[in-house]
Amino acid sequence: MSIRSSRRKFLQTTLTGGVIAGAISAVPALQSFRTNEQPAGYPLPPTPLDQTPLPYGYAALEPSIDAKTMEIHYTKHAAAYSKAVKEAVEAESAAKGLTLEAILAKVSGFTPKMRNNGGGHYNHELFWKVMGPGTSQLAAGKLRNAVEGSFGSMDQFKSKLSEAAMTRFGSGWAWLYVDGDKKLQIGSTPNQDNPLMDVSTIKGVPLLGIDVWEHAYYLKYQNKRADYVTSWFNIINWDFVQKRYDALV
Ligand SMILES: [Fe+2]
Repeated sequence: MSIRSSRRKFLQTTLTGGVIAGAISAVPALQSFRTNEQPAGYPLPPTPLDQTPLPYGYAALEPSIDAKTMEIHYTKHAAAYSKAVKEAVEAESAAKGLTLEAILAKVSGFTPKMRNNGGGHYNHELFWKVMGPGTSQLAAGKLRNAVEGSFGSMDQFKSKLSEAAMTRFGSGWAWLYVDGDKKLQIGSTPNQDNPLMDVSTIKGVPLLGIDVWEHAYYLKYQNKRADYVTSWFNIINWDFVQKRYDALV
């Protein structure tokens, strides 16, 4: 079987849930990968190194996020991470043939350029997709049950994620993620780190993340990060997050 067909077969199998039972528990431990394979416990397709098109217009998330912020964020900040991670992959031979997720899982063995920009690119590609126009609610089902079981209620979930976003000093991200025991967790990481990284103090697979770098909100909210975080809950694309959760557990 060729590498390409092997990879396709792997993704088809894992996306249908065939081989993921128990695998997520190995997220922090399994750090060696064959070419083009995802880390154990990450049964989702690789994130391309090129930016994927924004799935909505720059103004679509108003009033929570203004159009100018979205345009600059996507076309300048996020574009720069994509460009730089491609340069890093080209320059660092250990990255040859690895998916972005496989690189992040052992990012301690790469340069700071790879860590900062690989994380930055992964985080933003996820960020655009966990948001969407309009106000969506998390429908009854497996994820809602897990959120309520883990945090008590949707309000308590929002409160806990807000606290993680507010207490992240300086630049970083707050996450809802699935840990090695398949439990929902909330936490935050500095700079462009994320829970996939071996250098991260919180480990697992991100379900959703909120960007709390000032570039994500400063034009509209200035120093009022709390107002941005509160408004951000109105634009979560729960359908996307639900599908991601379904693939993981
Ligand atoms: Fe950002």
